[in-house]
Amino acid sequence: MPPRRPDGGLKRVSVSRSSARHSAVLPSVLTFAVIVASGGLLLLIEKGMLNGVDTPPPLAGGRRADFFSGRQQEPGADVESQFLQEIRNRTIRAMCGQKNTARSVWSLTPLQRKTLLQHILVNDEHRFLYCYVPKVACSNWKRVLKVLSGSLAHVDVKVKMNHRADLVFLSDLQPEEIRHRLRHYFKFTFVRDPMARLLSAYRNKFGEIESYQRKYGAEIVRRYRKTRTKDKRTIAGDDVTFTEFVRYLLDEDVERMNEHWMPMYNLCQPCAVEYDFIGSYERLESDAAYVLERVGAPAHVHFPERQTWYKPVTKETLHYYLCSVPQKLLRELLPKYILDFSLFGYPLPNITTEYCRH
Ligand SMILES: *[C@@H]1O[C@H](CO)[C@@H](O)[C@H](O)[C@H]1NC(C)=O
Ligand SMILES: *[C@@H]1O[C@H](CO)[C@@H](O)[C@H](O)[C@H]1NC(C)=O
Repeated sequence: MPPRRPDGGLKRVSVSRSSARHSAVLPSVLTFAVIVASGGLLLLIEKGMLNGVDTPPPLAGGRRADFFSGRQQEPGADVESQFLQEIRNRTIRAMCGQKNTARSVWSLTPLQRKTLLQHILVNDEHRFLYCYVPKVACSNWKRVLKVLSGSLAHVDVKVKMNHRADLVFLSDLQPEEIRHRLRHYFKFTFVRDPMARLLSAYRNKFGEIESYQRKYGAEIVRRYRKTRTKDKRTIAGDDVTFTEFVRYLLDEDVERMNEHWMPMYNLCQPCAVEYDFIGSYERLESDAAYVLERVGAPAHVHFPERQTWYKPVTKETLHYYLCSVPQKLLRELLPKYILDFSLFGYPLPNITTEYCRH
């Protein structure tokens, strides 16, 4: 069943604001090409590896050997997850080695550091740091943290999530305390297919949350819709189309975006923080169980079930929305999120005309 749009108004979008947009695209086309190429290559390697789990590993150096023996000591993580971790580690090592990439929290710009530290949650009892990414099960992780620190009785307690209360963020601490925890704690984050995440943010915020409709929705309609609304003050912003949302994203600075659509790279800075584990939303249950075991969570603390109102982003839904956006806009959007695709091993979406015809 195809999802319904809030309105059918794809046609009502404004003409391009392309001059503003082009300046926001990544600095070098060459860098972009290299990134895409390496991302694609790594995916091929990943696929080959996943198909050939039975074949013995190449005997190349200690790291492979460490990896394989390490796996046996960690029964919580399955083989596929271990391979994905390995792929992510390699990509991150390769990509972060580029010149001008900040390799520590302290060499980030003040704005980058502020964003990062505000997204890292601290648990001192179990000595771990969790960088939360909105739209990647972060409410459920926050519940788990509250249970682990004793401020919530149980993960399934039916209370509205307060995203600040009873949580400690790295940004609350002094530089020395931050340094200590970054060095000695187990650090993890969870990532998700970048386009599925954007679609999830769009459907949730513009479909359901009135404050977002008023603040962002109205602004988007004002900017990108060429209809003559008599009174601009009456724009509700509750019928933003996905195409209008994409146009808006193209014109926004990735470092100043709202956290729900800011690239995961900018939220969690995987070059500046050496994460021990990068979990996938696509394998949430097993990856979360692995992390809970790894940090030594008591047996009664389990990762919460999905909420009953949860609307999944299916392959079909994603296909429907992506194909509703003019191809040219998506081609401009992908470079903005290219680090999320390549560093975390997600394939670029197929947005060819042939594919969208199905
Ligand atoms: C990936 O890198 C992190 C950080 O260096 C490390 O803790 C982890 O064990 C690595 N995982 C694999 C599977 O190599
Ligand atoms: C995209 O999908 C079309 C139609 O299914 C297919 O022919 C094409 O090879 C795909 N392209 C990529 C890059 O996957």
